[in-house]
Amino acid sequence: MLQNKKIILAITGGIAAYKCAHLVRLLVKQGASVKVVLSASAAQFVTPQTLSVLSKNEVIQDFFDANFNWNNHVHLAEWADLMLVAPLTANSLAKMASGTCDNILLAVYFSMRGKVFVAPAMDLEMYRHATVKENLNKLEALGHYVIPAESGELASGLSGEGRMAEPENIVHFIENNLKQGMPFAGKKVLITAGPTHEAIDPVRFIGNRSSGKMGMALAETLAAQGAEVCVVLGPSVLQSANKNIQIVRVESADEMYAAVMQRYAGQHLVICSAAVADYKPAQVATSKMKKKAETFELALTKNPDILAKLGETKENQFLVGFALETENLLENAGQKLKNKNLDLIVANAANEPGVGFGHDTNAVSVIDQHNNVFKFELKSKADIALELVNLVALKMKVKG
Ligand code: CTP
Repeated sequence: MLQNKKIILAITGGIAAYKCAHLVRLLVKQGASVKVVLSASAAQFVTPQTLSVLSKNEVIQDFFDANFNWNNHVHLAEWADLMLVAPLTANSLAKMASGTCDNILLAVYFSMRGKVFVAPAMDLEMYRHATVKENLNKLEALGHYVIPAESGELASGLSGEGRMAEPENIVHFIENNLKQGMPFAGKKVLITAGPTHEAIDPVRFIGNRSSGKMGMALAETLAAQGAEVCVVLGPSVLQSANKNIQIVRVESADEMYAAVMQRYAGQHLVICSAAVADYKPAQVATSKMKKKAETFELALTKNPDILAKLGETKENQFLVGFALETENLLENAGQKLKNKNLDLIVANAANEPGVGFGHDTNAVSVIDQHNNVFKFELKSKADIALELVNLVALKMKVKG
């Protein structure tokens, strides 16, 4: 959720400021760009040097910093997608709620157009105080998001509600907030991707040239739109840094079948983009086979058709298949859509340049159950993934 998000972390002067070093690390680890604005009293609790090293950006402390033009608060606020004030003291809260603007941090706040999150931190009685509650309500009424303080031991030695939410919980709160309103928020998606390897003996296999790139591009796009994605991935070097993408690595069609069936119930959307081997060796030799005769025959037996089984046992899942064809593209793909009881099928022409296995680009035709055809011309697999996901979102909504 935070990948490529531009975040202003505004730190006001409370002891919880020391936790902001960890908070910056977490945000940066999630792929966010972070710029820190530090109030004068916050600098008593955490050093600008630490925050600058961790955020990889200059820390802003004053209107009149040598590296910062006095009016840069406006540009900084324009740059940001969101602002997080953590910890938020009772004093800064009162100023935000009343319109007082007597430091750079508040000037940035009043210039913000994006979302604002605040994580209050104060002692027990302060946090309970009616004026503080009223000020927090005021911020909520302005459309800001209050990350509730947590209970526990306080710096004063007292115990109760008032500690700043733990950095992990702050990040989680923001991520959940950003997910809302996304087309796939709360949706579970299962994707098969990559080739399968069917063992002949301990060192050889039957395989194909699929890379898994199309399936992984779909996974990244869906996760960016709020989905919780599981990819059952055949042998492939691809990985993902997105923590909403779980990768289950398998080798053979049988393993892929088992991994998919185990996870099928409860999925909202299933996309089978894997190039599953149709056949496997009838017998797998336990030791390396030796070269003997001039010719060699290998008996093969059919693999389970994963997608056909999913179609047969479909409950409410929206089912998308792929079809790689060398001739009669639309006719053959349309037939597979019906035979496998799919909602959509994505047809690839195997013999067109830049299309299908291994390429970074693709061009596809998508067929729905009413035989409507949607054509997506040659473009990067990431762009094709976005068009496909938009179409799936539309169709899923229509289907309910
Ligand atoms: N598929 C599958 N399990 C298989 C074979 C295919 O899940 N054992 C899925 C693929 O992931 C794809 C769709 O079925 O989404 C169509 O695959 P494709 O290989 O094009 O078609 P097949 O049904 O195998 O038919 P053929 O090879 O004869 O064209």
